Amino acid sequence: MSETNKSLEPLFRSFKSDKLNLANRTVMAPMTRGFSPEGIPGEDVAAYYRRRAENGVGLIVTEGTGINHPASVSGASIPLFHGEASLNGWANVVQEVHQAGGKIVPQLWHVGMTRKKGDLPNADALPVGPSGLSLDGEKITEPMTEEEVVQMVDAYAQAAADAKRIGFDGIELHGAHGYFIDQFFWENTNKRTDRYGGDIAGRTQFAVEVIEACRREVGPDFPIIFRFSQWKMNDFKAKLAKTPDELEQFLKPLVKAGVDIFHCSTRRFWDAEFEGSDLNLAGWTKKLTGKPVISVGSVGLDGEFTSFAGANTTSLDGLIEKLDNEEFDLVAIGRSLLMDPEWVKKVRDGRANDLLPFNKEALQKLY
Ligand SMILES: Cc1cc2nc3c(=O)[nH]c(=O)nc-3n(C[C@H](O)[C@H](O)[C@H](O)COP(=O)(O)O)c2cc1C
Repeated sequence: MSETNKSLEPLFRSFKSDKLNLANRTVMAPMTRGFSPEGIPGEDVAAYYRRRAENGVGLIVTEGTGINHPASVSGASIPLFHGEASLNGWANVVQEVHQAGGKIVPQLWHVGMTRKKGDLPNADALPVGPSGLSLDGEKITEPMTEEEVVQMVDAYAQAAADAKRIGFDGIELHGAHGYFIDQFFWENTNKRTDRYGGDIAGRTQFAVEVIEACRREVGPDFPIIFRFSQWKMNDFKAKLAKTPDELEQFLKPLVKAGVDIFHCSTRRFWDAEFEGSDLNLAGWTKKLTGKPVISVGSVGLDGEFTSFAGANTTSLDGLIEKLDNEEFDLVAIGRSLLMDPEWVKKVRDGRANDLLPFNKEALQKLY
């Protein structure tokens, strides 16, 4: 691997914001694992998250976890965020992480139209989305009625209330990658002509109502993180916002609704988002909103998140430079932390040679 020559101090500065303080700038990126039979995270899942907290991760964002709707996830071992058994499982995760001195937020998720008909855990539940279209634009089901959309807002709000009740340190709303909330944002999947459709600002209306409803449930002091992306699972080149101006039109309503921190999902943190500036998506988001931002994408690895192929470790110099320039505030680490619970500790202790390359076998194990 190439040496990291810069001082790592910017990564290990504490983070202070209105509602969330963290020991350092590292965040564990949300990563679906499918290790929760019947949607219930067990002791092994709690120990998996605890190991990251013990080894110095500043903030853990859990894998996406399904809100209370029959078609919220695709798979019987994806953790749910409703029902007594699943919520008790999560309460245990929170306790383990807190005992180890860590902080943790759940990523609240609905997969929308990416669900295939017949998927578990509820084979009869049809996929739902703003216009009943798959990410490729194929008509699969009927567009949701306004009443159904409003019920979904309530399901997110209930999850937010439960997150606070069982002791989480905040919530993250999954508004990225072409899943349910993003299907409202994206013009290819949202053809609605009611208040949930229209131009880029209009297409934020569903997210706005979700954020406002969550805020009503959790009160003014509980952190709400919002994850969004330009890219979609079926199209890495997709753009919600083609210019800084469009990005501003997109972000403004979300800020007004009550987002505290934006989590700007890219596959390579070093990519400039728009021509004429080196700023990445997180950098632009911070500039346009003034809110703290999390950046992500291939930190410490030489290959991006696509097909889960292996990737080698690489220097952190470019990352440290951007962090030190305050282009973004926090850094999420995905595959490196999936592979190695000690990644943050090893980096902090200058043990670069002990860092592990990403190997797709890590997907099958709870290291
Ligand atoms: C196995 C796996 C599962 C993932 N699941 C989620 C998820 O549930 N929610 C989400 O927002 N992103 C998910 N992602 C994307 C990661 O959060 C992250 O953005 C991506 O891996 C890029 O970071 P990296 O290059 O450090 O791995 C997943 C990634 C991996 C590798």
